[in-house]
This record gives sequence, C-alpha cells and structure tokens, in this order.
Amino acid sequence: MKIKNQIKLSFMSIPENVTLARLAAAAFASQLEFTIEDLEEIKVVVSEAVSNSIIHGYDNDPNRVVNLLCTIYDDDVLELIIEDEGQGIADISKAIEPAYSTDPERMGLGFTFMQSFMDTLDVESIVDKGTRVIMSKTVPTRMAAASETISGNN
Ligand SMILES: Nc1ncnc2c1ncn2[C@@H]1O[C@H](COP(=O)(O)OP(=O)(O)OP(=O)(O)O)[C@@H](O)[C@H]1O
Ligand SMILES: [Mg+2]
Repeated sequence: MKIKNQIKLSFMSIPENVTLARLAAAAFASQLEFTIEDLEEIKVVVSEAVSNSIIHGYDNDPNRVVNLLCTIYDDDVLELIIEDEGQGIADISKAIEPAYSTDPERMGLGFTFMQSFMDTLDVESIVDKGTRVIMSKTVPTRMAAASETISGNN
C-alpha cells in the first residue's frame, strides 16, 4: 500500500478540540469517494475516540496532548489513528464489549460505534503509558465499476 496523503494534528485535551478533530478528519476523508453518510460516520468515530482520550485517558485534564493521524493509502483506504499518553486500558477486550464502561454514567458504546462504522478497529494500550486506536475504512467499490471489470474479464 502506498501512502498518498497524510496529516497529523496534535491538540490540547479540551472538548472544543473534539469538534476540530472530527471536522479535520472528515475534510481529509472527503478526498476519497466516500458518501456523505460515510463522512458522517467518520466524524462520529473520531469524536468517540478523541472523547475517550480526553475523558478516560486524561481524566479531563486539559493540559495533555491528543494526536490524530489521518492517512490515505492507494486511492481508496483511509486510516485514522487517535493516540494519547494517558492512563491506558487494563483489559482491552472487555473495554471494546458493547455497553461496557468504567463510568456508570456512560453508555459504553464508543468502541461499538467505531467497530460498526469502520472496516477495522485495533486498540493498543499500556496501563500508565497510553492508548492508540487504529481504524481503517476502504471506499466501497461502486457497482458500475465492478460490473465493468467483470465484463472486461470475459
Ligand atoms: N483512551 C482511553 N484511555 C483509557 N481508557 C479508555 C480509553 N478509551 C476507552 N477507554 C476505556 O474503555 C471503556 C469503553 O469505552 P467506550 O467509548 O466504548 O465507552 P464509554 O466511553 O465508557 O461510554 P460512551 O463512549 O458511550 O460515552 C471506557 O469506559 C474506558 O474505561
Ligand atoms: Mg467513549
């Protein structure tokens, strides 16, 4: 896979920057042929991951840094990496389970959205070191292009 474009955004861990991050990621993703619906879903997953870094990773300390790395591979793959140097996750598979939260006030659905809206989700985390969430989504092959390829092969 060849890198076609890449941006990196590092920002303070304040709620205002959740909006900044989601808009930046969606604007970047719009360089690929995603639908409006795809772009809305990309905004949701970036919001969820960045909010997690701020709320859980940094316990709402505003003076920490969250990184967002967005990469386009080839002509159709978007990769999003959100990372923090916060408290980390002790049990990643449990954290990803739907409706699991360490905060009884929360729904525990952030990772569920990430999993359902993106094609891949990987979570790397070390307690007291931080968390990295890696997600990717490939632009679906359009029906017209697919049928052209099929008839071209005949
Ligand atoms: N960046 C992070 N650093 C530390 N812990 C995290 C991080 N991201 C997620 N977690 C842990 O994983 C759990 C599940 O995260 P998830 O986003 O699915 O749910 P939630 O944040 O608790 O609730 P919701 O996203 O619905 O508000 C969190 O409760 C938290 O314990
Ligand atoms: Mg969450």
